[in-house]
Amino acid sequence: MKDLKPREIVKELDKYIIGQKDAKKSVAIALRNRWRRRQVEPDLQDEIAPKNIILIGPTGVGKTEIARRLANLTDSPFYKVEASKFTEVGYVGRDVESMIRDLVELTVNTLKARQQEAVQEKAARLAEERVLDILLPPTPRSNVPEDNKPIQISDHTAQNQDTGSGTREKLRTMLRAGKLDTRQIDLDVADRSSPMVEIFSNSGIEEMGINVKDMLGNLMPKSTKRRKVSVKEALKILTQEEAAHLVDMDRVKTDAVAMVEQSGIIFIDEIDKIAGKEKSQGPEVSKEGVQRDLLPIVEGSSVPTKYGIVKTDHILFIASGAFHVSKPSDLIPELQGRFPIRVELTSLGADEFVRILTEPKNALVLQYIALLRTEGVDISFTQDAVEKIAAIAVDVNASTENIGARRLHTLMEKLLEEILFAAPDVADPQIKIDAAFVEKQLMDIVKNEDLSRYIL
Ligand SMILES: Nc1ncnc2c1ncn2[C@@H]1O[C@H](COP(=O)(O)OP(=O)(O)OP(=O)(O)O)[C@@H](O)[C@H]1O
Ligand SMILES: [Mg+2]
Repeated sequence: MKDLKPREIVKELDKYIIGQKDAKKSVAIALRNRWRRRQVEPDLQDEIAPKNIILIGPTGVGKTEIARRLANLTDSPFYKVEASKFTEVGYVGRDVESMIRDLVELTVNTLKARQQEAVQEKAARLAEERVLDILLPPTPRSNVPEDNKPIQISDHTAQNQDTGSGTREKLRTMLRAGKLDTRQIDLDVADRSSPMVEIFSNSGIEEMGINVKDMLGNLMPKSTKRRKVSVKEALKILTQEEAAHLVDMDRVKTDAVAMVEQSGIIFIDEIDKIAGKEKSQGPEVSKEGVQRDLLPIVEGSSVPTKYGIVKTDHILFIASGAFHVSKPSDLIPELQGRFPIRVELTSLGADEFVRILTEPKNALVLQYIALLRTEGVDISFTQDAVEKIAAIAVDVNASTENIGARRLHTLMEKLLEEILFAAPDVADPQIKIDAAFVEKQLMDIVKNEDLSRYIL
């Protein structure tokens, strides 16, 4: 993707997220600032630290959604972690660094895929040559084993001349025309089943920057398996193989590390779950411990990864949390200081719910319409039906627990349950959903608070 201006970023986010102007604005500015920094003269560049952000807001108002959409918008390496995962049993302090390693890994894979895409044409050409080699071994006739006999060409004279270029070109024409697609040939393919290697690679040795998998992989004999495949499949396999060879992995690795250092973004979700000072009971890692481990990474340190040392100074961190129980001020002061920008997301009301139901590109109403259309059932929603659903969502959120826009998901599912169950066997495939229908399906449950606690 290109470098979007803040306004354009907000506009893109608007396609999926209703309201939450302030949050969109802050993330848009932060994102654009990465680009701005890279245009500054090098001396000053190093001095400009990213302004990390905390998104604060109740559950289900779009915090994670903003992060998700942001990730699709930017070309920057983007990784999302749940802070609470670091308090789980079995985690040790330095595991917090794994977020950096994961980000690099992700970036390496993205760049590799992109490179492979770029060499696709060349790889396809090479694969074609290899298939032709198999179909028509370049060796003299006498050496050709019985079961690998050159393919019979209708034009006998050509074949009898020699294995020369004439025949090869004829074969190539047939190959390109897809006439040989179904022919079976023997192909030596890399045998990927080496489970032994996998066992080692998770054991934390990675911190030393050693790629155990590659090391062991090189020690072990390259195992290949001979398989019978169709020409069509062989072309596909060989193109992939050639593409992998053509990619300059050293270059990919250096590029990935540089990209992560210069424009990486890490989204730390549920950061409120590690706020609060209480000593944890049992084997959980203490919350404060996780915060302390997080500190150097957010502040800027060097993290060894298998692709090289990654400096985290300029990585942008966006944290988010509901902060129901704890407050941002419950984070240790040093960490608070590393997140200078705080944005509050507002809780959503009936108007927003109406818009969320209908406006976003992936709006719930559109999703259900599309789902049922696959069964030949056409549902449509009247405006007052949508308003009714929104109003009920507000009611239920107020009377039970406020789960924000997630309430719409439960309501919609319940509302359409009968139709979803019956489809495609419905009497009339044109179903109009109006306020009366909504009322009929949902009111009994809504009126009974106990019932709605369980069902909605
Ligand atoms: N402002 C919004 N616009 C459009 N859809 C929204 C909005 N807020 C929430 N949603 C929808 O509600 C669902 C939950 O939102 P999201 O995952 O962003 O919640 P959250 O704020 O991260 O909550 P939590 O604190 O529980 O993690 C998503 O599927 C999203 O589509
Ligand atoms: Mg969330």
